[in-house]
This record gives sequence, C-alpha cells and structure tokens, in this order.
Amino acid sequence: MRYLICLVGGALFGALLAMTAASALQRRHAWPRALMVVMQHELGEAREASRRDRCDPAAMRGAQAHLTLLAGDLERALLASGAKDRVFEKYSQDLRSSIAAWDPSATCPLQAEALSKVSQGCDACHRDYR
Ligand code: HEC
Repeated sequence: MRYLICLVGGALFGALLAMTAASALQRRHAWPRALMVVMQHELGEAREASRRDRCDPAAMRGAQAHLTLLAGDLERALLASGAKDRVFEKYSQDLRSSIAAWDPSATCPLQAEALSKVSQGCDACHRDYR
C-alpha cells in the first residue's frame, strides 16, 4: 500500500513539474513569437493590398510604421540579453533597410516589389535561425 502511494505521489509530482517547465518555456517564447506573428500580419495585409492594387497610402504608411517599430525589437526579443550575434544582427539590419526602402506612396506594383524584398529578408533569417 505504501509503495502504491509513493508511486502515485511520484507520478503526480512529476506531472506537475513537467507542466511547470512547459509553461515557463512557453512564456519565455511568448514575446518573440508575438513579435513575429504581428509582423507577419502587417506584412501579409500590405502585400495583399498591393497585389489587389488597393494601395491606400495612409494604410500603407501605417503598416510601414508598425513594421519599423517591430523590426527594431528583433535583437532585444530574440537574443539572450547581452548576447552578440553578428549574423543575426546583419539579418535584422537587412530587414530594417528593406522596410525603409519601401515607399508607401509609390504605385502598387512598385510597392508589391518592395514588399517581396521585405519578405525575402524574413526568409533569409528563418533559414538560419528558425
Ligand atoms: C533576424 C532574424 C529574423 C527575422 C529578420 C525574422 N524572423 Fe521570424 N522568426 C525568427 C526566429 C528565430 C523564429 C523562431 C522564434 C521562436 O519560436 O521562439 C521566428 C519565427 C517566426 C514565426 C513563427 C512564430 C510562431 O508562431 O511560433 C513567424 C510567423 C515569423 N517568424 C514571421 C516573420 C516575418 C513576417 C518576418 C519579416 C517581416 C520575420 N519573421 C523576420 C527570426 C527572424
């Protein structure tokens, strides 16, 4: 009987520990993942608008401002604090340059092209880091 209680108690304790560890891991990734998901949303909407030839300058400027802000947080959200990673920083910088090079008052086809470059910047980093 005592053996059984120990067994059940041990199993419960183990499950609790595993759950705590899993939720701590999830929280640790919450910020970087949220950052990525919001960037994906902004970029997706802007690309969709440019493809459909519906480039509202105010909306496109808003998307560019958001992406600029979000991309500015890449290193802070993804690198361990104080860590240096020149390749990661290069990818982040390239993404920021491509966002800055996008002219939200240009014609839709030109914006679609600029946004493809932005998207390539996302993919370049994902190939190495995701
Ligand atoms: C400098 C590197 C870098 C750049 C640039 C970058 N990403 Fe990421 N991305 C990552 C890493 C690393 C992960 C994995 C994060 C994790 O799971 O904690 C990731 C994960 C993601 C995810 C999955 C998130 C989830 O639900 O787990 C999406 C979506 C995403 N990125 C979109 C984008 C978009 C859109 C861009 C460009 C606007 C972009 N990323 C630019 C490094 C980058």
